[in-house]
Order: sequence, then C-alpha cells, then structure tokens
Amino acid sequence: MDLRLSVVVGAAILLRLVSGSSGNLVFEVQNKFKFNGRDSSLSELRSHDARRHGRLLSAINLQLGGNGNPSETGLYFARISIGTPPKDYYVQVDTGSDILWVNCAGCSKCPVKSDLGIKLTLYNVNESSTGDMVTCDQDFCTSTDNGPLPNCKPNLLCQYNVAYGDGSSTSGYFVKDSVHLDRVTGNLQSSTSNRSIVFGCGNKQSGEFDSSSAALDGILGFGQANSSVLSQLATSGIVKKIFAHCLDGKKGGGIFAIGDIMQPEVKTTPLVPNQPHYNVVMKAVEVGGDVLQLPTDVFDTGTQRGTIIDSGTTLAYLPEEVYDPMLKKILDKQPQLKLYTVEEQFTCFKYLESVDDAFPEVTFHFEGSLTMKVYPHEYLFKISEDAWCFGWQSSGLQSKDGKDTTLLGDLVLSNKLVLYDLENQAIGWTEYNCSSTITVKDSTTGAMYRVGAYDIGSTSTLIARRILMFLLLFASMLHALL
Ligand SMILES: *[C@@H]1O[C@H](CO)[C@@H](O)[C@H](O)[C@H]1NC(C)=O
Ligand SMILES: *[C@@H]1O[C@H](CO)[C@@H](O)[C@H](O)[C@H]1NC(C)=O
Ligand SMILES: *[C@@H]1O[C@H](CO)[C@@H](O)[C@H](O)[C@H]1NC(C)=O
Ligand SMILES: *[C@@H]1O[C@H](CO)[C@@H](O)[C@H](O)[C@H]1NC(C)=O
Repeated sequence: MDLRLSVVVGAAILLRLVSGSSGNLVFEVQNKFKFNGRDSSLSELRSHDARRHGRLLSAINLQLGGNGNPSETGLYFARISIGTPPKDYYVQVDTGSDILWVNCAGCSKCPVKSDLGIKLTLYNVNESSTGDMVTCDQDFCTSTDNGPLPNCKPNLLCQYNVAYGDGSSTSGYFVKDSVHLDRVTGNLQSSTSNRSIVFGCGNKQSGEFDSSSAALDGILGFGQANSSVLSQLATSGIVKKIFAHCLDGKKGGGIFAIGDIMQPEVKTTPLVPNQPHYNVVMKAVEVGGDVLQLPTDVFDTGTQRGTIIDSGTTLAYLPEEVYDPMLKKILDKQPQLKLYTVEEQFTCFKYLESVDDAFPEVTFHFEGSLTMKVYPHEYLFKISEDAWCFGWQSSGLQSKDGKDTTLLGDLVLSNKLVLYDLENQAIGWTEYNCSSTITVKDSTTGAMYRVGAYDIGSTSTLIARRILMFLLLFASMLHALL
C-alpha cells in the first residue's frame, strides 16, 4: 500500500524537456478550425470575417475537478475529450509545464485505476480515425528540437521526455488528433468544437505517476512554450493567449477559462521576461502587518532565484531565509503550541478553536503594488478534528539541485481568480468566490458570457480517507511519544 501523501510538487518544475524544449517552434497549421455551427447567422458572418482575417478569437471553458488539500486530492484536474469517436481524459492542470500528454495504450507502468473517483483511459492512436503519429521530420518535431534531428529517418517517431521537479518523469512520442473543446456560446453555455492538436502519448512513467493514489490520465501543461495547447490554439488564431483559473479551495473544482476575461477586474504584475515558467518579482513578505526583515537578494530573479506561479504544485515553497522567519513570526502569536512532525515533512499541532482568529494573515507584495493575502485557513490544512499542519514548506529541503526559488502553488493560488495575460506578459489575481461565475468575451462577436464553476469527480475519495486515517494514526502515535 502506498501511503505517501499525494502532496507536494505535483508536476511543478519542468527541468528538462529533451525533445520538446523551448526552441524555435513553428507550427504547421494544416486543418482549418471549424465550429459545430449553432451560431446565429450574424455571428456566423462575423466569425467568417474573422476567419478570413486569420483570427477567430473565442472563449473556451475547461471543466475542473480536484482540490488543493494535501490530505485529500492535492491537485486540480480538467476533463478533456480527444479523438474520433471522442473519449474523456482527466489531466492535471499545470501552469508549470509545457505539453499536454496522456497515458497511451502499450504503456509500461501506467496507472490503470485511480482513487480520485474517475475512470482512467489509455489513448490509442489506432482507435481514433483522426489520430496520427508525428514523425521526427515534421515541423513540430524539428522546431521543438531546435532543428533537424541528427538520426531522423522517415517514419521514426518524434519522442519526448519530461522530468518534473518532484523527480517523476514521463516519456513517449508525439501524436496529433482532434481535441474537443467547450467553446463558450452563451451564459453558462458552451458547444463542443474540435481542433487538431499535437500532444504527447506517454508510454513510460516513473515516480509518482505510476501509483494509483492520485492517478490521472496525464498532464495539461499551460506553460508559455510553443508546444503547449494554449500556444497551438493561439498560433492558429483560435484564442488569445490569455487564461484564468479560480481554484476552489473550499469545495473543490472551480473555474477555468481561456480568452478575454472581462470580469472580475484583476490587477497585474509583469512577468519576468525569458523565463521558462511564470516568474514574477516579489518585493516583500508581511506577516500579521509586520514586514519581515529579509536579505535583499532573497527577491532576486534568475535561474537560481525568483518566484514562480504554478498550479501544478500543491503547496508553497519558500527559501529557508524566508521560511524560517515567517514561521517564527506566525508562531510568535501562539508560543504555547506543541509542534510535531508528520510524514517527515509537515509541521503540525493540535488546535480546537478558529485558526483565523489565532494566526496572522500572510501577505506577499509584488512589483506593481500587487499583493496576495493568504489566510490561516488557507495556509493551514486540517488532518483531523483537532489537528492542523502548515502548508508552507522550505524549498531548501525540497530541491535537490540547491535552487532557492519560491514556488507558489494551489495553497496560495486557490480562492482567487488568477489571470495569465500572456499577450501583455503579465499575471494577476484577485480574491474571488470560485463557485460563482466570471465573464468572458467572445472577441469574434463581442458577446459577453458568464462562465461557471465545475467540480467533476468525487473529492471524498477512498485514498483521502485512507491518508487521513494514516495521518491520524501517525499523528496520535507521535503525539503520544511527545
Ligand atoms: C513561438 O512561436 C512564435 C510564433 O510562431 C515565434 O515567433 C517564436 O519565436 C516561437 N518561440 C519559441 C520559443 O520557439
Ligand atoms: C470535428 O469537427 C468537424 C467539423 O465541425 C466535424 O465534422 C466532426 O464531426 C468533429 N469530430 C467529432 C469527433 O466530433
Ligand atoms: C497501431 O498500429 C500499428 C500498425 O498496425 C502498430 O505497429 C502499433 O503497435 C499499434 N499501436 C497500438 C498502441 O496499438
Ligand atoms: C459564492 O457563490 C455562490 C454561487 O453564486 C453562492 O451560492 C455562495 O453563497 C457564494 N459564497 C460566498 C461566500 O459569497
């Protein structure tokens, strides 16, 4: 029985993408994008116009499930539909990596069942009439690999290998098939339209990916590289390179939309240019109204430093120089607490009253006067009726490569509308009710539509209870020893 928490790092940092690095990518756009036309004749006309001008900018809605609680699912996923006839796949939504991949037929060490209450499906290119292999001489492959592959012969597949920050990895080959997307066509309404997309067909997994506890069909990378689904859609003029998520930390699931987000209004901070991830500049950390006195180089940017926004990471990782004083400051208010460690990773304590009354809020300050407030009930997670653990982690402990980056995952991103405006190279957020709606604009017709929340799958899963029981047992055992 695998009792590790499904926690941490999720798909976090993309360290290496051998055959799919961010080279000079050029996309061949062979198929025209066609919607299942149920549009009014006017909007049909406008979209025809837009098509003639090479742009057909609409809004797309993704259905979300999962939650950010480390003792439950510990990740957010989306349902996507691929192939002809279409089949559903459940993929982790990860703004920290750059390709979509799903487990494929013939895979060695792929999970066959999941404890997340979803049915896993292996993709088989032979069973989809629209599916095709991507060979190493095709543009997608040569451009992701910065030029022709040295040993490429006709009919050889275009291979990829992705290693994630938590030590897990996936490899396989690229295929191209119809991906069916929910185009927003009215208030809380959408219609399916398909588009040929290149994605990874995973045939070898290692690390966390082959365990069933939080198993999914794959990962949907929402990174900036040209290989991402977002970039492929944007390159062919289907969407603007703008998307937003609202991860519901209270109920699970949430809102995910691609396109012009009109409401809520979001204040932004610039993205650090030329970074493989969504890096922003942090300026200060405030705990309960006091700004922490930190060495100034803590907020430097670059490959060894910096602050990354990553929906594929469950918790939040801070450099030791930030983590230590932050935790000390938080605990200053509760000197009588007896701390103990769970799973060699989590700092926990018993507490019966409201944590929001007892602990201070943490506020991160970013360039452009953007702030991000994290409430105690968000940075603490409950493992039993009377026990809580800190979600804050020291990145020094986590990274084997000595990098001291700040990694802001679901722990701090949930209960906010987080906007990634790649057209303007900015990212922003605002506190928001993730079970309400946001307003998007169909840029082709100018129409404004409300997009609502989803919560697919069951969040009270078997594994959640199993982990919880284990934690409980473990925690009380430890506690008894103290
Ligand atoms: C991505 O594609 C765009 C437009 O097709 C191109 O201008 C850009 O150089 C590409 N970027 C990378 C990193 O390959
Ligand atoms: C994909 O879209 C085309 C054009 O609208 C349509 O003819 C086809 O049936 C769609 N494929 C599926 C599997 O829905
Ligand atoms: C698909 O068909 C090809 C050719 O018949 C075969 O070589 C390949 O193994 C099949 N792939 C899968 C996943 O079944
Ligand atoms: C959030 O929105 C939902 C749906 O509109 C509503 O039922 C709920 O009361 C709202 N929650 C809060 C805290 O305002």
